[in-house]
Parts: sequence; structure tokens; C-alpha cells
Amino acid sequence: MRSMLEVLVPCFVISVLYLAGTRLWPQRGVSEMRRAPATAPAPSSDMPSNWIDCVYTEPEPRFWTEYGSGPGVAVYGFPSKGGFYVLRECVGVELDFLGIDRFENTERPSKSDPDWQAKEEAHCDRMRRLGAKWFETHRDELEFMFFRTREDTDPYISFGWPDGGGVWVLNTTYGRASELGTGIIYNAMNMEERCELIKRLGGIFYADPSDCPYLNLD
Ligand SMILES: *[C@@H]1O[C@H](CO)[C@@H](O)[C@H](O)[C@H]1NC(C)=O
Repeated sequence: MRSMLEVLVPCFVISVLYLAGTRLWPQRGVSEMRRAPATAPAPSSDMPSNWIDCVYTEPEPRFWTEYGSGPGVAVYGFPSKGGFYVLRECVGVELDFLGIDRFENTERPSKSDPDWQAKEEAHCDRMRRLGAKWFETHRDELEFMFFRTREDTDPYISFGWPDGGGVWVLNTTYGRASELGTGIIYNAMNMEERCELIKRLGGIFYADPSDCPYLNLD
């Protein structure tokens, strides 16, 4: 009798463990998985929706331009080398030069387009001709914008690209730009007029843009 119990009890324990392993445990796992999303906070646009590992990943940028209250609009470009270019407060003439819609937001080329990367590169090339600034991360851009005050001695550079070739450049400081009244450049109706204004304000003409020390074209 006792030796029989010695055999039956372990058998019973093993059976229970086996059942728990094959039936009870997976069921519990599944019901937990089903329940979990309902108790997690609903994903919102400015919150990471990935609640499992809690790692914040920056959302993929959708736009080259997205209009706000203005003046002008910030133009973004995303080169294959990483990071991004930005030109802030772009107005009509600059947007025309970049081939960007002046009245509608412009989305980035869709990644389902096989030429999306080439289009992105061509866009960045044009942005560089207007002196676009490159940042590695959005954090770097925010730091540049908010944790730094503009000094009168900071460089002010404006570019104009005449149809006939070459480039007009006004290189000065913000202090001097204020004395010169460079704000009139924003009132140019087209690129030719912009070039005339840059010339009038004391700009320099480079017949070969690669001679221009203020442009970093690659
Ligand atoms: C551009 O202008 C700034 C400010 O006047 C000056 O310091 C700098 O040397 C100029 N750049 C060139 C290449 O002349």
C-alpha cells in the first residue's frame, strides 16, 4: 500500500504540473496578452505608442513644408547621409526656387516611389544653394534655436540665383543688415528682383558658384 502511494503521488504531481504547463499556463498567457492593450494608455500622436519597451522613437517626418502662422515657412530636407537640412522663414521667391508649393503643405516623396531618395537629394541640393543649415538631430536644432541668442555680430548671408548663371551673395552681420535694411529682400517679387536687391545692398557676384566661399554645395 505504501509503496503504491510512493509511485502514485509523484505520478499525480507530475500530471498536475504537466497539465498546468500545457493548458493552464498558455491560456493565462493569451488572456493577459489580450487584456494588456486595453489597459495600456491609448496611443496619441505626440506620445510613443510603443508601450512594451518604453523606448521613444522620433516619428518619421512627413513633410518638406507644413504651414503655421508664418511669416514664411520652414523647409526641411532629408539627405541620405542622415540628419536634415532646414531653411527657416522661406518666402515666395525662395519657395519657387525650391519648387515648393506656396499655398499647400508639401509631403516628402513617398517611400513607395523608387526615386524617393534621389528626389530627396535633389531637394537638399537646391536647399544648400540658399544656405540651408544641416543638423544631425532635432535636439541639435532646438538647442540652436532656443539656447542661443542672435548677436549683432552673427553672420547674415543672402543668396540670389539669376537665370543667366552665377550667384549673387550678400555676406554681412545681423547688425549691419539692420542698418542696410536687408528686409527689402523679402519683398522681391521674383528671383531677378532679389538679385537686383542683393546687388544694390552691396552684394558680390560669382560667375562660378563653386568660387563662392559661403556656399557648401556638397
Ligand atoms: C563675411 O562677413 C563676415 C561679417 O562681416 C566676415 O567676418 C567674414 O570674414 C566674411 N566672409 C568672407 C569670406 O569674407
